[in-house]
Amino acid sequence: MNKIVGKKIFSENVVGLDIEAPRIAKARKAGHFVIVRVDEKGERIPLTISSADSVKGTITLVIQKVGVSSRKLTSLEPGDTVLDIVGPLGQATHVENFGTVLACGGGVGVAPLLPIVEAMKKAGNKVISVIAARNKELLILEDQIREYSDEVIVLTDDGSYGRKGLITEGMEEVIAREKIDHAVIIGPGIMMKFASMVTKKHNIPSIASLNTIMVDGTGMCGACRVTVGGRTRFVCVDGPEFDAAEVDFDEMLMRLNGYKAEELKAAEEYSC
Ligand code: FES
Repeated sequence: MNKIVGKKIFSENVVGLDIEAPRIAKARKAGHFVIVRVDEKGERIPLTISSADSVKGTITLVIQKVGVSSRKLTSLEPGDTVLDIVGPLGQATHVENFGTVLACGGGVGVAPLLPIVEAMKKAGNKVISVIAARNKELLILEDQIREYSDEVIVLTDDGSYGRKGLITEGMEEVIAREKIDHAVIIGPGIMMKFASMVTKKHNIPSIASLNTIMVDGTGMCGACRVTVGGRTRFVCVDGPEFDAAEVDFDEMLMRLNGYKAEELKAAEEYSC
């Protein structure tokens, strides 16, 4: 059992939880994720570690309400517990002094982007962050991203905060005036698909952090498989980060949508 020691409401659908997990807090690096089971019947939810405090022994996870298990998780309060947390899992982000790094985060993807922005900045890079959300309510962690960025561009689809526009517009603007040496792209699958088309068009080496369905998290079940550069790869052990230009996003999106009907039905039953 892991105890929740802090909670922050970012919006109606996005919540941050600080959870006791001392060994994970000590071992985690940027890019690592955990798999959480809220209770015996809970799905195994992969969540990237947004930040950690190795002294307090806590990790911070940012969760978006999507299905039943994520709703249960976001309804927990300090003092409550989750059944178990496995991690840190996956490959840590490759961090070095690339020069100028363009960090692109969409929606709840800004949470896993944060530790990468921090690590890239600490490695001596100039970091330009472009963060975007559908509206002001859904924009998270702006202040924390600003802390480690040389410049931040904020966009919302509806213009309720920052500039009105899509993340790709902010990316194009930066690329037009700066030489970008490396890009990091994290967000909803469809956003990553179009953002990676921008970096590919400009020949900018870029990585995307993929958010597939997972079950075991150890490379055995195949639930998280994706095609990268024509090869089958497993997000849980080979990723979650891959060369964005090589990812078959259409296949990933099709697989992600494969359980939508069941997810909706379960969510309806849960809220009844
Ligand atoms: Fe099972 Fe990756 S989650 S192989």
